[in-house]
Amino acid sequence: MPLDRTLKIAPSILSADFADFGREIEAIEAEGCDWVHVDVMDGHFVPNLTFGPPLCKAIRKHIKTVMDVHLMIAPVDPYIEAFAEAGADIITAHMEAGPHTHRTLQAIRASGRKAGLALNPGTPVEAALPLLDLCDLICVMTVNPGFGGQKFIRTQVDQIRRLRTLIGDRPIHIEVDGGVDPDTAPLVAEAGADVLVAGSAVFRGGSVERPDIYGENIRRIREAAQAAMEQAA
Ligand code: DX5
Ligand code: ZN
Repeated sequence: MPLDRTLKIAPSILSADFADFGREIEAIEAEGCDWVHVDVMDGHFVPNLTFGPPLCKAIRKHIKTVMDVHLMIAPVDPYIEAFAEAGADIITAHMEAGPHTHRTLQAIRASGRKAGLALNPGTPVEAALPLLDLCDLICVMTVNPGFGGQKFIRTQVDQIRRLRTLIGDRPIHIEVDGGVDPDTAPLVAEAGADVLVAGSAVFRGGSVERPDIYGENIRRIREAAQAAMEQAA
């Protein structure tokens, strides 16, 4: 079955109200997001701490679309089963999280979930070449992972373009994560990304009382990216 390369907007709940994840998720889905991106940080692989499997399990029942779990943790292998049981649809691990990425991707697939591979800005996308057949998604980081609201690293656009060529017709999503907004979305969409993660650019200015602002933010990113994709086609 051919991979669905239509544009997907994946809001990162790192920018949501941490005391109200259920209603925040329901609001962004009602306002038209495609996936829900969940950033798991361990205070070791990245200098920030967020949450683990119990929280993922608790929010799972509020997610009707796709639960896209981005693990910024090391080691990662001991926790794969717990995130699979928590209901993740996609589990993404970092290549830089350990020496055995091949084994990690195999373990994710064995857990019955889709396997994602994330690459930090300092990692050449060519490093993913031997692992492509184990990947359902490759996440190109356009910031150094750890925090929302950082500045988009423009040199990553060339990496996305090279990755798009490397992937060829393999059924692998290209996800971009960090600093995506209506100005940067066209750059990454044109270069070949189909899943755009956006935290601050989606949640900025809105709330569960004003979900229409989330909707407007999502629409602005989508329209900017879509126009660039159509031009590139
Ligand atoms: C960064 C996270 C991102 C981040 C994106 O470590 O992986 O998902 O929350 O946030 P923005 O869109 O604000 O850069
Ligand atoms: Zn992320």
